[in-house]
Amino acid sequence: MTRRILAISGGGQGIGRAVAWHFAANGYAVSIADIDADAAEATADKIVHDGGLALAHRADVSVVADVERWVEVTQAVLGCPDVVVNDAGISRNAPFLSLAETEFDRVIAVNLRGCFLVTQRFARRMVAADRGGAVINIASTRALMSEPNTEAYSASKGGIVALTHASAVSLGPHGIRVNCVSPGWIETRAWKHGDRASIPAQSERDRAQHPVGRVGVPDDVAQACLYLAGSAGFVTGQNLVVDGGMTVRMIYEP
Ligand SMILES: NC(=O)c1ccc[n+]([C@@H]2O[C@H](COP(=O)([O-])OP(=O)(O)OC[C@H]3O[C@@H](n4cnc5c(N)ncnc54)[C@H](O)[C@@H]3O)[C@@H](O)[C@H]2O)c1
Repeated sequence: MTRRILAISGGGQGIGRAVAWHFAANGYAVSIADIDADAAEATADKIVHDGGLALAHRADVSVVADVERWVEVTQAVLGCPDVVVNDAGISRNAPFLSLAETEFDRVIAVNLRGCFLVTQRFARRMVAADRGGAVINIASTRALMSEPNTEAYSASKGGIVALTHASAVSLGPHGIRVNCVSPGWIETRAWKHGDRASIPAQSERDRAQHPVGRVGVPDDVAQACLYLAGSAGFVTGQNLVVDGGMTVRMIYEP
């Protein structure tokens, strides 16, 4: 059987690690890029230990040379991806009036430029291979609503939603669907690398903010990605909100 191939950025920890594992469990060979080489290796090692096929590559998604090297290595070792997931992301929350432009630029560079670069460079290979495929960008409910002092992160995620529908239109004629997933509150502490991992404690108040009655877990996002990569053949350019209903719950306290 020919394995389908996933390329995922940020797959070393958190949501990306769960996405990598779930795709591997569904028969995908997985190419993992992360700025944290040890974390990427750990995700790949677990996949291989479980009988799958994976490669780990250190790359900063905001750096063209890093992205192009990752694309080359993926092509040489595994082949052209069927699915690309842009998960790598950072936040730098700071008071708006004192937010340094360098910090703003870094968040945009990793979250938005990185998403553009990875998609464009892999899409060149996918178009040449003429097999179609799917791109899934990890945005955030913060693209749609905000707390104070989150301008850089929110702007980057809003940009990803727009980049998603624009590139869906451009790549559609090549059989490549592009969608994004907007997670809400996803508890990732158990999915951190090494001694950064911890078991979270959540209160009843945390759970009650969600109509489904719980905080999200990385598997929730992974399931949404599997859907968009697989059976969602008539879905492109969309933003799938995965937040347990948090953003549709009206706060009304007369
Ligand atoms: N956890 C949440 O509640 C939540 C909610 C909404 C959206 N998201 C988004 O989901 C994605 C994953 O978030 P997470 O909570 O799992 O974070 P995380 O920090 O656990 O994982 C992010 C991974 O990306 C890697 N990374 C960071 N900068 C990179 C770079 N320049 N190049 C390559 N890799 C880089 C990190 O090393 C890390 O392994 C992010 O895009 C985040 O914005 C998370």
